[in-house]
Amino acid sequence: MAKLKLAIFVSGRGSNLQSIVNSDSLTDLVETSYVISDKPDCKAFEFAQARGIKTLTVGTHASGFDEIAEILIAKGIGLVVLAGFLKLVPPGFVSKFENRIINIHPALLPSFGGKGMYGHFVHEAVFESGARISGPTVHFVNNEYDKGYIIAQSAVDISMVNSPDEIAKKVLVAEHKLLPETVALFAKQRIRIVEGRVRII
Ligand code: GRF
Repeated sequence: MAKLKLAIFVSGRGSNLQSIVNSDSLTDLVETSYVISDKPDCKAFEFAQARGIKTLTVGTHASGFDEIAEILIAKGIGLVVLAGFLKLVPPGFVSKFENRIINIHPALLPSFGGKGMYGHFVHEAVFESGARISGPTVHFVNNEYDKGYIIAQSAVDISMVNSPDEIAKKVLVAEHKLLPETVALFAKQRIRIVEGRVRII
């Protein structure tokens, strides 16, 4: 089977990007064709460029996304991964990659998601809530922040933590496992949407 071509969108440090590119179990399943960012000076770009992965910068206007979409379609990109990408992807782009865009969120959706819920804000809200469990969610992307179908989650025990930072660290470890696993399921065509829910076959 031909490898699934990935385009990975990033805005920052890029540790989730690294978890995909460095995953041994993805080597035969996927290739990362492009890393795309709204912040070309981000750490994730440095990593991609050092690995010889092509990088593209997306502008702040919707037409920037139109141009990127054309490039990705021409290349035969099969899956778009948002790995710490902070912008809302415009509807025109989403419709061109229907059910082929996934995002990783550092909390258990549908709680602690939505506009403004990113980075440390998420972990602060979880800490304040007193929740005993947190964990990452991988979901399909639609036109609302963090609202698409949930594909995969994992539970992290946070009952003994003393700060939002501790939650962030623990959840990040789980993210680095969950995201490559989910990409592998997608590459093996094991993710189906049936009657408004994701089913892993
Ligand atoms: C991760 O916590 C991810 O869940 C969230 O943004 C963060 C990105 O981290 N969407 P990194 O850039 O992958 O290190």
